[in-house]
Amino acid sequence: MNDSLDALEGEILDRIQQSNSETEIEELRVETLGRKGRLTLLLRALKDLPSEERPRAGERLNQLRRALEARLDERLSAVKAQSRERALKEEQVDITLPGSRWERGGTHPLTLVIDEIIDVFWGMGFEIARGPDIEDDYHNFEALNIPKDHPARDMQDTFFVSDGRLLRTHTSPVQIRTMESRQPPLQIIVPGAVYRHDDDATHSPMFHQVEGFMVDNHIAFSDLKGVLTHFLRQVFSAETGVRFRPSFFPFTEPSAEIDIQCLICGGHGKAGEDQTCRVCKGTGWLEILGAGMIDPQVFRFVGYDPEKVSGFAFGMGVERIAMLKHGIDDIRLFYQNDVRFLRQFG
Ligand code: DAH
Repeated sequence: MNDSLDALEGEILDRIQQSNSETEIEELRVETLGRKGRLTLLLRALKDLPSEERPRAGERLNQLRRALEARLDERLSAVKAQSRERALKEEQVDITLPGSRWERGGTHPLTLVIDEIIDVFWGMGFEIARGPDIEDDYHNFEALNIPKDHPARDMQDTFFVSDGRLLRTHTSPVQIRTMESRQPPLQIIVPGAVYRHDDDATHSPMFHQVEGFMVDNHIAFSDLKGVLTHFLRQVFSAETGVRFRPSFFPFTEPSAEIDIQCLICGGHGKAGEDQTCRVCKGTGWLEILGAGMIDPQVFRFVGYDPEKVSGFAFGMGVERIAMLKHGIDDIRLFYQNDVRFLRQFG
């Protein structure tokens, strides 16, 4: 019995010494001192020994139990200390490192200009409408009084997609879609992307327009003049000269193009002593808007009676306005998303 106890003691002490985790130690404790542990079973078997051997054997077993308990506790605190130390080393934080910062984003300059335009019209009671970027020929051309062979189609290099559909070349189709589904009075603006086969420093295959129109019983050209003059003086400056020039659009009659005095040369057409202004090319004026009284033919397409209603419409290019406002000479800067450019508008 003593020999085998010595062997057991040696084996368990060895294994305690080699154990490296709290679970390992806990398993050893259960294996030796648990309810069915090896030492526990021996202690329980004491009663079967002859009575003269019992005291000595009992003493030896109890001494062994205490010794093992002590070694297990010792090893457990050693292992705990080790793992705490390891954690401290591995999870070290360098508090002198600079913190990781969130870069602050900003609104895109084109969105800022669109929002500004919307704000001015919102103040005059206009509401916002939108339409699909992928249009059909009817809404983009036909119902705007631009028939199949009309030369006006040449002005708009169209991107066609499948099934006779196309990328809208202007926001004007939303006039048609809105009037098809609603009745006057209407006071609407339509911001959105438009697409044309065009690509250079001042033209992009995708750009933005804001369309607007107003339809009611007695809308006159003077309303158009008042609304647009107010708009231009809000977006540019209160002193900006505004000029209405006769023009032509198939969906308005009469039609006008609206200019503002050149923002760069102040309307003189000159840059310095004897150089012509590069931006207005010496004319002193900048073309900003197309507009006019909605053509009776357009009203007929949407089922309105042109004898009963009248209205005006207008359209403008957002990029052009943003370029003039900020003195930007290349439209492509808006789409390259170079933060050095974008940051200047935050
Ligand atoms: N749709 C025209 C274009 O893209 C702009 C325009 C001109 C819109 C006159 C209008 C308008 O509503 O009345 O060039």
